[in-house]
Amino acid sequence: MKKVGVSILGLGVVGGGTYRILTEQRDFYKRTQNVDLIVESVLEPDEAKLAALGVPAEKVAHNIAEVALDPDVNVVVECIGGIDEAKNYVLDALSAGKTVVTSNKELYAKYSHELERVAKHHNAGLFFEASCVGGVPIIRTLIDGLQSNEINSIIGIINGTTNFILTEMTEAGSSYEEALARAKELGYAEADPAADVEGLDAAYKLSILSSLAFHTKVPYTKVIREGITNISKEDIADGKALGYVLKLLAIGRRTPAGIEVRVHPAFVRKDHPLASVGGCNNAVFVHGNAVGDIMLLGRGAGALPTGSAIVSDILYAASHTDFRYSTFKNTASPDKDVNFLSDFGGAYYLRLTADDEPGVLAKIASIFGKYNISLVELLQRGCREPGKATIVLVTHETHELAVQNAVQKLRATGLVQVESVLRVAQ
Ligand code: HSE
Repeated sequence: MKKVGVSILGLGVVGGGTYRILTEQRDFYKRTQNVDLIVESVLEPDEAKLAALGVPAEKVAHNIAEVALDPDVNVVVECIGGIDEAKNYVLDALSAGKTVVTSNKELYAKYSHELERVAKHHNAGLFFEASCVGGVPIIRTLIDGLQSNEINSIIGIINGTTNFILTEMTEAGSSYEEALARAKELGYAEADPAADVEGLDAAYKLSILSSLAFHTKVPYTKVIREGITNISKEDIADGKALGYVLKLLAIGRRTPAGIEVRVHPAFVRKDHPLASVGGCNNAVFVHGNAVGDIMLLGRGAGALPTGSAIVSDILYAASHTDFRYSTFKNTASPDKDVNFLSDFGGAYYLRLTADDEPGVLAKIASIFGKYNISLVELLQRGCREPGKATIVLVTHETHELAVQNAVQKLRATGLVQVESVLRVAQ
């Protein structure tokens, strides 16, 4: 039976989940995969984390050199997160010829080319299924399951923390702060939750997934990004009244005009399949030219789901010595001829506070008319501020730039405060 020695760097939520799976399922892998996965060492200075998992003292490594030089270690699992230490450790491990499995989407989105170059040079494997969409095997699906297709679009909910927060705000009426605190407690949120709530975590993942799907480097800096920090209970309630649910969507499309990549909150109709994807669950729709639509759904964050993706990568690496590089076949810099689009189609929700006097609504309607934006829903209600009214609008399909121009014009009238502008997915 093949023996594979594993070292885990970092025993936080994901590293801890990986340790548990590897130790608890060892016999199962021997029986079903004919491979013995042995945790040879862990690199974790926090005694409390080591004690909580019952890691024997002789398994604790004290520095990366000890791991990289250990001939019994074949696979190094990086669960440290962030860049500085994680990147150096991964490079040390790859340079020593160890296969690396990482859950670090920031590291992969920013440095995939450098890491792959070093991996190839040292004939080491490099795998990153756990970097995107937790336990959902989206990367393996794109690389191995759908490689026969030209992928036209990827649309999904790819951040568990924000989906958890929005679900709590929608279903339990929690405040944003309460829901975020709970997401941290459950280990869904990143060490700095700003990465989740500002959409950066989803942008890293979308950059990795679109690069694989569209066979070209999609830098995360090209992702149009808006987070959920400005979402109010009022928007969620208005959406609910109109039959919509708010989600943080990641959208990647390849069109003849270029590549469109964006992460932002968007309303989906309550009968849309993504509307019922609640809590920390994630879901991704992929459209391939031959297969049509497929949807993957599952836990996008958490110790065991993410650990599941890591251990699957270890098993894959153990049985695929001929296929040691899982990823991009592109160059070190973005392709020069790729056009990243800043205008795109869609419908919009707007919440305005306006002076409650004759002619105001007509002025608003005429500004939308000027930009060829037609309205499908219009709702006016009283407002706490005396002399003001709240106006909620939903547009027909239009264009991002048309809406931005109309909003600018509305603001310039001085009659209207634009409280929120949210996209509505069709
Ligand atoms: N913070 C991430 C999320 C963890 O909430 O989705 C999984 O990548």
